Amino acid sequence: MILPARISIPLVLLALATSPVSAQPMQSVPTVSLLPTPWMNPTLAPDARADLVEKEMTLDEKLQLVEGFYGSNINFVWSKPAPPKYRPFLLGTAGYVPGIPRLEIPALIESDAGLGIANNSGMRPGDTATAFPSGLSNAASWNPDAPFEVGAALGSEARARGFNVVLDGALNLARDPRGGRTFEYAGEDPLLAGTMAGEEARGIQSNHVITTEKHYALNDQESGRFTLNAIIDEPSARESDLLAFEIAIEHGAPGAIMCAYEKVNGTFACENSFLLNDVLKRDWHYPGWVLSDWGAVHSTVAAANSGLDQESASGFDNTEFFGAPLLKAIQSNAVPPARLDDMVHRILRSMFAVGLFDNPAVKKADAMPDNTLVAQVASEESMVLLKNEGGILPLGAGVRRIAVIGKHGDVGMLSGGGSSQVQPIGYNPADDYMKGGSVIVLANGTKITPTDHLVFDPPSPLAEIKARLGTGVVTFDDGEDRERATANARSADVAIVFAKQWMTEGEDVPNLSLPGKQDALIEAVAAANPHTIVVLETGGPVLMPWLKTVPGVVEAWYAGNGGSAALTRVLFGDVNPSGRLPITFPQDESQLPRPILPGFALPFSSFDVDYTEGANVGYRWFDSRGLTPLFPFGFGLSYTTFAIKDLKLESNGTITAGVDVSNTGAREGADTVQIYATPPSPAGAHAVARLIGWSKVDLKPGETRHVSITGDLRLLASFNKDEDDWNIAAGDYAVTVGQSSTQPVETAHITLAARKIKP
Ligand code: NOJ
Repeated sequence: MILPARISIPLVLLALATSPVSAQPMQSVPTVSLLPTPWMNPTLAPDARADLVEKEMTLDEKLQLVEGFYGSNINFVWSKPAPPKYRPFLLGTAGYVPGIPRLEIPALIESDAGLGIANNSGMRPGDTATAFPSGLSNAASWNPDAPFEVGAALGSEARARGFNVVLDGALNLARDPRGGRTFEYAGEDPLLAGTMAGEEARGIQSNHVITTEKHYALNDQESGRFTLNAIIDEPSARESDLLAFEIAIEHGAPGAIMCAYEKVNGTFACENSFLLNDVLKRDWHYPGWVLSDWGAVHSTVAAANSGLDQESASGFDNTEFFGAPLLKAIQSNAVPPARLDDMVHRILRSMFAVGLFDNPAVKKADAMPDNTLVAQVASEESMVLLKNEGGILPLGAGVRRIAVIGKHGDVGMLSGGGSSQVQPIGYNPADDYMKGGSVIVLANGTKITPTDHLVFDPPSPLAEIKARLGTGVVTFDDGEDRERATANARSADVAIVFAKQWMTEGEDVPNLSLPGKQDALIEAVAAANPHTIVVLETGGPVLMPWLKTVPGVVEAWYAGNGGSAALTRVLFGDVNPSGRLPITFPQDESQLPRPILPGFALPFSSFDVDYTEGANVGYRWFDSRGLTPLFPFGFGLSYTTFAIKDLKLESNGTITAGVDVSNTGAREGADTVQIYATPPSPAGAHAVARLIGWSKVDLKPGETRHVSITGDLRLLASFNKDEDDWNIAAGDYAVTVGQSSTQPVETAHITLAARKIKP
């Protein structure tokens, strides 16, 4: 079901200029000059308020605002604890920037939030939070309302805990599906990723809680994330990874941007003047602040002058770079004092714009919010039906005996790992599955063997399926003993195998195969029972050597606390699946731009990753090479059928495509109409189609609706680095309406005149 339509999105950064809290009664506000703290006047613009408070700040206070501390008293091997004076205020999560009570400047209290309010598993037992579906899952909804609702709920959970900054918004493009954070990101397409991540940010900030977009930019794999050098030419970067950020910022107006760990074209991202000064601040007019990833700062002068505005958790860096060293640099004018003022202005401006001064987050004394239902609705929109031979799904009334097979199917739905990890509602540490990680050797030679916790988000799919089936029989088998599992499958009407691929921040997966003996288990179960359905709980794409042998496959992603209920409703047809793939599923790793993942064998060494595919990420790469994927970008089945007709194009500066879409089946369902455009190709070159817009339409049986989709001009253009603008080439554009990147329905042509647009 599509969530209700919402107030339209402020598409420009100027949205930040209007504080959402300016609706206080005018007569109660004394005139500016009479207030001891005139910046507390909510009728003033955020920039003006920032200027007023900044004028009163001492140099020490300014320096204090541009340095953060790790938000926990726990001293990891690689971090130093915050100075003792701040320790009583630490809330046990990612970061803390002390406030300045004299000027009523609140502290910034930061939590990770990739999957929900992360509470550093194991540190504060019992502090559970809603586990939301992963970023990739939200992107698979292709419905911007889904991430908005998730963001709004997540932001409310942050507020209830007293956090006023969340470190959400991971949207690095999935250049390699083996990347360990593929599950946190929003897929491989800049328009889809930027829109969905931006809408989540807008939802979060509607709670007067600042969010980030991260990791700016090109943190596209985990192996070597602290050391690697991403090589990419400027036009390619502008048309892919950077465009995703640009679009997300337009949608969400995030208060902060987190710069990434690795180097881009030879310079660390947090001291990369091209990324921070030229692109983000000059070309995109970004008014917020840049904070560093934890341990991503490598210098004082270069970082400050290149656009870094705040050193996060300075104890994670090799040494403190802001604070005292920054003071020295300012005194010697190596960093102009105006640069410090700009850093402070940007931080304060975002705090005013998002409402941190006027609507402070205060930790609630009573029970924390439970947003399982929001998580469930988002997950219902995001599950992708990949195969449904013979209409095996939805499960019909004749199904009375179900064999649920697969480890931890009796506990919950698998979660991704790393800083985004949540202690989910209903969490029982006894249910964790411990997995030994590979030995990490730190720069100083210390060896640590991490013991990864695999967390499963309750309730279990087994319990939900049992409750939904009612009087039937549901058996459970963990699949460890294949003979036993196949015997169970044989005696059931339907066997459902839960197959899992765990991904985590900090390490990539070695390949796209389901780990362990899961492929063999699926083959064996399918041989024992032809009515076998595979449910995938994966961070991203996996290989399916057994695909021909099973009639049903559902991609459930990392689905969170609402995942089991959502899945059960999809399996039984209470919900008609409408998710579409936000990422291409390859047939095997040889189809990827880099069949061998760079640095996987030596993840702590320095190496280059040359992104020679340029802006042809994901489906564009497959198109450019004529490769046929296992499942294409944009793909997903439904329990009903749709027809798309009468593609008409209009050129009104950009391209607007109109089509009629009908539900030709017997059930209500949602189709996602996708528009791809192919610009004129330079002589002899193969031009690649790009997604320029889409619309998800909910239709009753027999219903037809007309949809009109206006393309984002930047997706039709190429970036000219010499003129620093987008160029629309004159000529013929092929425009295709399709149900995925490889399922065209109709193509029409339109001629555009040459045009240039400034970023
Ligand atoms: C490192 C991760 O890359 C980032 O996403 C996270 O927000 C910080 N650590 C803080 O935990």
